[in-house]
Amino acid sequence: IYLGDEDLTQETRDLLSSLPSEKGWLVSQIYQFEGSWHTQGLVQGILNCQKNFKAKDSDIILATTPKSGTTWLKALLFALIHRDKFPVSSKHPLLATNPHPLVPYLEADYRVSPDVDFSELPSPRLMQTHLQHHSLPASIKSSSCKIVYCCRDPKDVFVSLWHFGRKLSPEETAEYPIEKVYWYESRKNPNKVLFVTYEELKKQTEVEVKRIADFIGCGFTAEEEVSEIVKLCSFESLSKLEVNRQGKLPNGIESNSYFRKGEIGGWRDTLSESLAEVIDRTTEEKFRGSGLKF
Ligand code: A3P
Repeated sequence: IYLGDEDLTQETRDLLSSLPSEKGWLVSQIYQFEGSWHTQGLVQGILNCQKNFKAKDSDIILATTPKSGTTWLKALLFALIHRDKFPVSSKHPLLATNPHPLVPYLEADYRVSPDVDFSELPSPRLMQTHLQHHSLPASIKSSSCKIVYCCRDPKDVFVSLWHFGRKLSPEETAEYPIEKVYWYESRKNPNKVLFVTYEELKKQTEVEVKRIADFIGCGFTAEEEVSEIVKLCSFESLSKLEVNRQGKLPNGIESNSYFRKGEIGGWRDTLSESLAEVIDRTTEEKFRGSGLKF
């Protein structure tokens, strides 16, 4: 996991010493960089990524807050984009590989080196980020690449993160900031940023998956069935696969940590009504006037 044990350059050290920092969750120290909290390794990864990543017009970038549906969207986007090469069958890569190693995580891959080779990725390249919109490498914004952003009820994100943290390190948990910028960007520039919510994706998966496919330029023909991909990527299918129940991912995290309950409103078994109210009030304050409702 991204514990920040990378070799840091002098530039990163200088920057870290100027940033607000706090005792972290899972790590001894976290740093506030461009409005979000990161480990020292990720700060270096973000710097390297911002300076060196060159987006191609054909790229597709999945942007999410951790625990808002990244694993699901990675599976769906991978299955959608490569469905000519990998039709849904017993040989589909998602049946043998956890969705995470199939889709590179930009700023994490840049932690150890400014040179990351993405040349092996099939076209169109599909990549994931947890960066807020203002922290994205400039070429992602200036090129014609597409961004799919997924958000989720902050209470479910919070509870999901809490369980994830407890699994990784039982002692401590921490709250993550709530983002709203992608919402404005998707309204300003609907051809560039597609705003997806976990809740809508759960309630009407086929409709939403078709909308995502149209947006990234691989829409379904009248004859094509979307249901196979939806079923392949469903929580029920993915979470039962041997590859997602056993073993660890290259990032050191147990594969099954990414599959817990996969429900809307799953927070109810963990959060008290009073804590839920506090989160609702904070969300309401942060999103007031945006037009975005949870
Ligand atoms: P819960 O902890 O509420 O169950 P991320 O992938 O961004 O880390 O988010 C993890 C959350 O998405 C977990 O939520 C996990 O169970 C859920 N999830 C993982 N795969 C899913 C799928 N195929 N369909 C629906 N939810 C999924």
